Amino acid sequence: MVGIKDRPVRIGIIGAGMGYIHVKNLKKCPEAEVETVALCDVNEERAKHVASEFGVPNVFTDHKEMLKQDWIDAVLVCTPNYLHAPMTLDAFKAGKHVMCEKPMAMNATEAAEMVAAGKKAGKTLMMAFNNRFRADSQLLKKFIENGELGDIYYAKTGWIRRKGIPGCGGWFTTKEKAGGGPLIDIGVHVLDLTLWLMGNPRPVSVMGSAYNKFGPAAAKERGGTFDVEDLAVGLIKLDNGATLFLEASWASHIAKEQIYTSLIGTAGGADLDPLRIYKDIHGVPTDVSPQFKPVSGHEMEIKHFVQRLREGKEPMSTGQHGLDIMNILDAIYKSMETGKGVDI
Ligand SMILES: NC(=O)c1ccc[n+]([C@@H]2O[C@H](COP(=O)([O-])OP(=O)(O)OC[C@H]3O[C@@H](n4cnc5c(N)ncnc54)[C@H](O)[C@@H]3O)[C@@H](O)[C@H]2O)c1
Repeated sequence: MVGIKDRPVRIGIIGAGMGYIHVKNLKKCPEAEVETVALCDVNEERAKHVASEFGVPNVFTDHKEMLKQDWIDAVLVCTPNYLHAPMTLDAFKAGKHVMCEKPMAMNATEAAEMVAAGKKAGKTLMMAFNNRFRADSQLLKKFIENGELGDIYYAKTGWIRRKGIPGCGGWFTTKEKAGGGPLIDIGVHVLDLTLWLMGNPRPVSVMGSAYNKFGPAAAKERGGTFDVEDLAVGLIKLDNGATLFLEASWASHIAKEQIYTSLIGTAGGADLDPLRIYKDIHGVPTDVSPQFKPVSGHEMEIKHFVQRLREGKEPMSTGQHGLDIMNILDAIYKSMETGKGVDI
């Protein structure tokens, strides 16, 4: 792929919700490297409001109109989940690079189409897995790559909330627009982070369960739909022999919200967040607390996307990683329906 080196990369954003965070972070990048040239949202008022706050010169309400503009190099797809695949395919057809918000798509079939379309167009598809870009994640990855944990054979990860259903009754809790509940919304973040720390082993089989005990009543109070799970659990076997436990919930009777990853390896273990490393040093069990300056994962993620477009190199979080994750999520939902393990 040819890099965009001699002028700023020109970015258009579709969806002004999460798109707001991206345009804000893009403004922190050097002007010589990137420009946010267009913002599209069906809610014109929202788009204009965000565009005027950050000085984005062009506003569209139809993403296909925006994609026709040959002065746009890349787009950020930040719309509800059911639009990720069709908009990414439209963008590749129009010859644009894409960074797509999580979850990649509604299911693995759509995700596979996105990967294939990107390859056919010869364009970049980066998945917006922002947690990889946090300073603690990057530091732990360095420790792992330098062998501090040895072989990681077991990991646990989860994002479980006591009360935290996003947009209860709206698109987030409607299966045909979101694809699923907390598993596909927040589970996807910690699943990606953990698989990446483990070196992206491929999934082999999955056993999963999901429940919806609180959501439907909460949506009934507010009006609207809730036909997704509010808690899901998965046990994932990986092709390097390792096992990964995953849990995600928007509502559950727990003390407080927990977002965690625990890795267990032959030479050491580690927790995030906070970052701690556990080793035997001179035969003594020892906890290590690395010092680091926190950075925003969202800010580093968008800088990485721009940098890789400028260098003409593949990004760190690829469409294939997104597809592997969609395969796991599909298998957890299938296992929930059948009550049996699912081979991938
Ligand atoms: N990475 C993260 O930390 C993170 C955080 C929040 C949301 N997200 C993801 O970002 C995506 C959007 O979530 P959100 O919280 O911003 O939702 P949101 O509902 O706040 O915003 C979505 C926006 O998309 C617009 N939109 C809908 N249909 C459109 C269309 N056809 N064309 C153009 N615009 C359209 C809506 O008008 C709305 O402004 C979701 O996939 C979500 O999972 C990621």
